[in-house]
Amino acid sequence: MSAPRGQFSTNIGFLMAAAGSAVGLGNIWGFPTKAAGNGGAAFVVVYLFLAFALAYPALMAELTIGRYARRNMVQALRIISNGPVSRFFGGLTGFVGILVASLVLSFYAIVAGWMVAHLAEPFAALFGAQGAAQWLTDNSTERNLLFTAIFSGLTMLIIASGVEKGIERWSTLLMPSLIILLLSLIGYVLTQPGALSGLEVYLMPDFSHFTPKLLISALGQAFFSLSLGVGTMLIYGSYLSQQESLPRLGALVTLIDVGIAFTAGLLILPAMYVAQEAGSQIFSASGELIAGPDLILQVLPALFDTMGKAGIVVAITFFALMVIASLTSSISMLEVPVAFSIENLGIPRRIATPAVGLIIFGISTVIITHFDTLFGLAVSISTEYGQPLLGIALCLFAGWVWRRDQLLAELKKGHPNIEQTLFWRIWPWYVRIVCPLLIMTAFVHSVI
Ligand code: PFF
Repeated sequence: MSAPRGQFSTNIGFLMAAAGSAVGLGNIWGFPTKAAGNGGAAFVVVYLFLAFALAYPALMAELTIGRYARRNMVQALRIISNGPVSRFFGGLTGFVGILVASLVLSFYAIVAGWMVAHLAEPFAALFGAQGAAQWLTDNSTERNLLFTAIFSGLTMLIIASGVEKGIERWSTLLMPSLIILLLSLIGYVLTQPGALSGLEVYLMPDFSHFTPKLLISALGQAFFSLSLGVGTMLIYGSYLSQQESLPRLGALVTLIDVGIAFTAGLLILPAMYVAQEAGSQIFSASGELIAGPDLILQVLPALFDTMGKAGIVVAITFFALMVIASLTSSISMLEVPVAFSIENLGIPRRIATPAVGLIIFGISTVIITHFDTLFGLAVSISTEYGQPLLGIALCLFAGWVWRRDQLLAELKKGHPNIEQTLFWRIWPWYVRIVCPLLIMTAFVHSVI
């Protein structure tokens, strides 16, 4: 007999966990900088449209398959398959999903480690440890290894405590804190000189950017932001009670994700222009707004330094926000291989978590020690190839492989009149045909 499966104890618990997975560095860093580089509000509008028109249907596929099968991605895709061939491909897709989730975590933990180091820096400075403060912000292999280890350790601690006591409890605590920190920062930054120019760049649409590149960038961002393709939403769905309406919960998760991404733009863009006013360089040599690690690790810290004592509080608040956002996402990634180890290999959670966590930390270590060659490669394999291709596969499984009566029966749980809704009239065809075709088109464009 296998151990009883975990389950979210409340609706809100699931919502916080799933929104926590979705809301991460992708929202607070990725979205605002992509918007700034792609026509501001023009990007925001396209993103909003794609999030609901493409990412939401794919999210629904994952949640529904997960809740029906009540298993990890490998087993779930096998369970909904009817013949040996589809079962084989189901298992294979699930397995690739687990590998890609682990690969995303291996680079994500490195970036999150930078955030932890930058969070520690103001404390070191407060205690007069200037040497330590400098070490914390200088990019060195030793620092990166140490802080990736600390962040990975935190992720493992939460996952080792299980679904209710780990994932649900921490997400329910951390997500409201994240929103409070974000809003406080916006309140402060918007009072600073230069902030309005940033708002203008963010909110004035420039439709000359309306090109295939913008569409592809927005689609990639939506997929990454909603944590799609790699089985995180599928496994969270598998811990969800059957009394809840899936279309409604999925829509709420999408709304929170999009809402926080948009709100983060109200912080990052104004902060960049405040930094410019304070004398920082915010455009690269090619004339584009700085968007990479330099923005978060140099431009913004330089801005905090100009704010005197308040700057210390702002820096701590900002990096606490980044660490929280990363943590609620990283736990969802680690849960994917851990759930597989528990259910397929029969390893208890308390052993599976450190074992899998250490393997992934090993991959992070290899990336850190060969950063220039491997970091970009890991990001590209997992997010540019892995996530879209797996997203297509999941839509095909939900739309073509899974029996329609079973799918409907699952959706009816918690939503008995689903057949009369617009959702049921559109969604099944959508995941069958529209989603795979559009994702494929965007994918082909982006790799060519
Ligand atoms: N959604 C997260 C973010 O926006 O930062 C990233 C992410 C989490 C990607 C979980 C993939 C994943 F499985």
